[in-house]
Amino acid sequence: MAEIGKLLGILTPSPHKRTGRDNNMKEENDQPKVSKKTSLLRGRFSETTDRFVQIFTASVDFDKRLYREDILGSLAHAQMLATSGIISSDELKDIQRGLDLVREEIETCEFKWRIDLEDVHMNIEHRLTELIGLTGKKLHTGRSRNDQVATDLRLHLRNAIDEVLEQENRLLTAIANLAERHAETIMPGFTHLQAAQPITFGHHLMAWFEMLARDRERLLSCRKRVNRLPLGAAALAGTPYLPDRQYVAGLLEFEGICENSLDAVSDRDFAIEFCFVASLTLTHFSRWCEELVLWSSQQFEFIDLPDRFCTGSSIMPQKKNPDVPELIRGKSGRVNGNLISLLTLMKSQPLAYNKDNQEDKEPLFDSIDTLKGCLTALEGMLPNIQVNEAKMLDATLRGFTTATDLADYLVNKGITFRDAHELVGAAVQYAIQHDKQLDELTLEELNSDGARIIEEDVYSVLTPVGSVASRNHDGATAPQQVRLAIARAREQILPQAD
Ligand code: ARG
Repeated sequence: MAEIGKLLGILTPSPHKRTGRDNNMKEENDQPKVSKKTSLLRGRFSETTDRFVQIFTASVDFDKRLYREDILGSLAHAQMLATSGIISSDELKDIQRGLDLVREEIETCEFKWRIDLEDVHMNIEHRLTELIGLTGKKLHTGRSRNDQVATDLRLHLRNAIDEVLEQENRLLTAIANLAERHAETIMPGFTHLQAAQPITFGHHLMAWFEMLARDRERLLSCRKRVNRLPLGAAALAGTPYLPDRQYVAGLLEFEGICENSLDAVSDRDFAIEFCFVASLTLTHFSRWCEELVLWSSQQFEFIDLPDRFCTGSSIMPQKKNPDVPELIRGKSGRVNGNLISLLTLMKSQPLAYNKDNQEDKEPLFDSIDTLKGCLTALEGMLPNIQVNEAKMLDATLRGFTTATDLADYLVNKGITFRDAHELVGAAVQYAIQHDKQLDELTLEELNSDGARIIEEDVYSVLTPVGSVASRNHDGATAPQQVRLAIARAREQILPQAD
């Protein structure tokens, strides 16, 4: 989303004709005065709000974060009021000027946020009225805070999604670059965290790439449903002012309007969907981070994390703790919590708007901030990890990881796979007992059953390099396939991400 200054510029007049009501507008002093006591939506009450209730129901502390979107939505709404002839063009100019002043005051921290004005919407409208007089009170014509807050939230989330997408694109590129450097680097692949078969580190990294590419795809899809205009729904039923909703949608760069006014003001499924995508993305990140933590331990020593991403211990001078990946792993907990909060918040709410929905903001904002923070950390950390190729190879050699290759070798010699599995199992047991690796066994030892099927060529399949090279098809670990997968990603996935 462009800066607010620029956005003032995008609010071009609607092609629709004015109705000529400009001249019928009453002068400021003709308007009925509303007494101070009743000015804060309390015309029908006989006592002022309880102080505790005021604090309990206020949201300004956290929804002031929506000030830009609130101003932006108001500018578009005012433009619509002017093109429909509900306010005059001079009044529109006053509102535009006033809102710009409000924005400036907020950004220079001169703005006095008031808890008795409850939320960001009433604070801004109140200040606008102070600055430009009675015209400020016309801004809310044909609008309710119900469609206003839903609009603000959608604009805010759309902007956040675009920022996240950019970060994800950078991270995907970083992963592909690292994978390319390590297309041939051998490491043990694991199942049950036990060394299983040799793989290439590039292949492992491209698995991370795939996870994140799907997360990005989900986010792009979610953006479409976020990008709909609620304004015009007013409180719940629409407005007699017949707003040109498509025009307002165009001004705010929404892809369309929310079709049903009740749904527009009440559902927060778009926020829930984002929180789900954030949760799943963080679930993926927590898996990667678990691996980074394990790999950087003395037990693995596969990688060394950059010092600037690690912390020391207050008591143990030798420690270099992988706090950043640990924290990312931990933060998946809070975003899952946010998702559950929003799901539970929405559950059982009757149509249409209910105050429950005010509780949507903090979980949503927290998931946005957490996701962005984790992406920043990973973007900084990943390209700078030191990969200890010797240790990775050593662990591959020590784990009998080519046992399956030996079984496949025997299958090629005409033995059924189940019999081959049995024979190789016995060979592994023999190797363990004699403290040897498979490729250290002599042909006599390998042919201990006397069948003499295993020949000299077996040693080429018992090496990790031979093993990975033999798995040379789409989606498999051979260096050639890793390079093809990276090329496909660069051609198909990364350009779409721009
Ligand atoms: N602060 C409120 C929220 O976040 C704005 C909408 C209030 N609407 C109402 N009818 N009380 O949901």
